[in-house]
Amino acid sequence: MNTSIETVIGDPANTESRLRELLKQMTLAEKIGQMCQLSASDGYAPDYLADDLRAGRIGSVLNVVDVNAVNELQRIAIKESRLGIPLLVGRDVIHGFNTVMPIPLGQAATWNPDIVRQGARVAAAEAATVGINWTFAPMIDISRDARWGRIAESLGECVLLTSELAVAMVEGFQGDDPTAPGAIGACAKHFAAYGAVESGRDYATTNVPETKLRNVYLRPFKAAVDAGVMSLMTSFSDLNGIPASGNEFLLRQVLRDEWQYDGFVVSDWDSIRQLQIHGLTENDKQSASEAATAGVDMEMAGDAYIKHLAELVDEGRVSIQVIDNAVANILRAKFRLGLFEEAITNPELLPAVGNSDALETARQAASQSVVMLKNDNAVLPFSADELKSIAIIGPLADAPYQQLGTWIFDGDVDLSITPMHAIHSLVGHDVNVRYVRAMEHSRSKVSEAFDDAVEIARDSDAAVLFLGEESILSGEAHSRADISLPGDQAELVRRVRATGKPVVAVILAGRPLTLTNIVDHVDAILFAWHPGSMGGPAIADLLFGVESPSGKLPATFPRMVGQIPIYYSQKNSGKPPSRDNIVHIDDIETRAPQTSLGMSAFHLDTHFTPLFAFGHGLSYAKFDYRDIRVSAHEIGLDDTVTISTELTNSSDVAGDEVVQLYVRDVVASITRPVKELKGFRRVRVEAHETVTVDFQLHTSDLAFFGRDMQPTVEPGEFHVWIGGSSETELRTEFRIIQGDGCDKL
Ligand code: NOJ
Repeated sequence: MNTSIETVIGDPANTESRLRELLKQMTLAEKIGQMCQLSASDGYAPDYLADDLRAGRIGSVLNVVDVNAVNELQRIAIKESRLGIPLLVGRDVIHGFNTVMPIPLGQAATWNPDIVRQGARVAAAEAATVGINWTFAPMIDISRDARWGRIAESLGECVLLTSELAVAMVEGFQGDDPTAPGAIGACAKHFAAYGAVESGRDYATTNVPETKLRNVYLRPFKAAVDAGVMSLMTSFSDLNGIPASGNEFLLRQVLRDEWQYDGFVVSDWDSIRQLQIHGLTENDKQSASEAATAGVDMEMAGDAYIKHLAELVDEGRVSIQVIDNAVANILRAKFRLGLFEEAITNPELLPAVGNSDALETARQAASQSVVMLKNDNAVLPFSADELKSIAIIGPLADAPYQQLGTWIFDGDVDLSITPMHAIHSLVGHDVNVRYVRAMEHSRSKVSEAFDDAVEIARDSDAAVLFLGEESILSGEAHSRADISLPGDQAELVRRVRATGKPVVAVILAGRPLTLTNIVDHVDAILFAWHPGSMGGPAIADLLFGVESPSGKLPATFPRMVGQIPIYYSQKNSGKPPSRDNIVHIDDIETRAPQTSLGMSAFHLDTHFTPLFAFGHGLSYAKFDYRDIRVSAHEIGLDDTVTISTELTNSSDVAGDEVVQLYVRDVVASITRPVKELKGFRRVRVEAHETVTVDFQLHTSDLAFFGRDMQPTVEPGEFHVWIGGSSETELRTEFRIIQGDGCDKL
């Protein structure tokens, strides 16, 4: 449908002139209307919305998911409001819509931008069938604290991995052409540093020094901005004393002045009014003033803007320039999405939801996301020819809803295939599959059914325990202080272990867990996150060797919660721990003098290393790395160096390996991490094949924000490693030598 509004006819290629024309015709009230987003409850639109739309009091709605309701709202906005401006229709489409992909943290474990892009494309196309044209994803908060429930929604702890997958998601949602059917606007969130909340408590305070902010937390956002993300969402949290929704440094200095961003910024849910609760403002009016002036263009689900902005402009406390800029940013997105040309949804033009392609994408994503943490004596894969019987045990073996994970407002539980069902259909004709749930849910402390579980394990050739967290235990506002397996699961493991049968744990969870108390009681662990609709078939294929595991950890697994924050890119400190300078609490002699306890950065009551390192993940194939080399041992300030290795699969099965490149800037004007991921690639290696893998590194890839908060590359020595995890020791070196030019990029 064409809006036929005179003001917006013009050259569709010339968004700027069209939006300036439109802006000229808008009253202050209409402008403020564009800055307001209203929520509908239960997925349908409340009746009063129509009047607000006619009056131009609303620029966006969220949580309307009925296509007829959305179309009616768009019709009113286009046909019955004075200027006919279409609506942005937002929804949390985070890891799928009807078809559910693995949680984002699981998607990050694929280390595969292609499958992540494809997953976002499927989600966008399904969401578009009900008229959604804007999603609140990707969530790209660097997350180094597994207590934080929202780590599930994140892409993990690493700057590079998060940045590359953020770009893939933006490309997936928005497509090459955001006006095409099935493309929707993306929203990078939460700007910024939400992942640094104290002790992993959701919504809590963050304190992040500016160098760390720029070198870590802001980088994925810059990558998303460079990829053309249409919008950004502010964080709920307080950053260094100024809550993000009123933070001029973030929203003006960094985002607009430095990055020249021309998309729009939406607040988080009611986070403008929360400025008062933070203690930054006295009342909603002051909150509206602070947020608008700081650069929040649209208010989500609050009423501070609608109630107070006009008065604030009249009083000269908020300038009309601020309002015009905000409205221009919002209208720009509407033009870019092609809404002025076509805002009404015709679901028939889009593929059906939950179609076979969507399910296949979900299956591949799930398969590639599973990380094999251990596999003693090659207990996996099971052979359907040799195994006569198998015991399937645990609260998450047949829990179609729980395997979907957090953020599944629109997830279709009927599309879920559980591991129990998938194992039955894969091997049920050859293998006797017995099942005991043993626990009602993951938190259960009722152990009455443990005897039944032990009995079927005893009567079977092997036991597979489906353990972990149900989906409610992670996600927004679902932080935990103890991140071990909840309830009596560890006891269930011990009881089944006592049968002497091979025991495999498949763990479904929304975060890294501390598995120290079970790791030695099982032969193998597949960590499957919340794998989504097709988690069952993906897991069954991995258990029986139809596929080889290829996921790698996107976040470090601590031994115990007290090690947090523990992440691979830590700084060295002046007293780094090593195997030679640590002491365990059990080994302290009674009269030991204080000075004999190692004097390094470690905890007395655990090891200084994690249980499983970032990047770790095993395969049924056996990968050997050798012969790391650099194309030059000395390069200039604007040069590229090639780093190569030979990768051999010395096993009889083919497999995918995620090859990882790490760098350390040995001496710099501010201390740099002991290792930083600088490249990664998923490569297929056939049985007994050797491939050469090389990475190109330009000196700009080594830039960091230094003492003056400017990006810099400093001459000097760099260590570089390649391997299958962050613990790789295959290392070489090169130097950047001072060139003729300056040392800044
Ligand atoms: C609050 C969450 O923090 C945010 O991520 C989400 O997009 C909004 N609510 C909308 O549901």
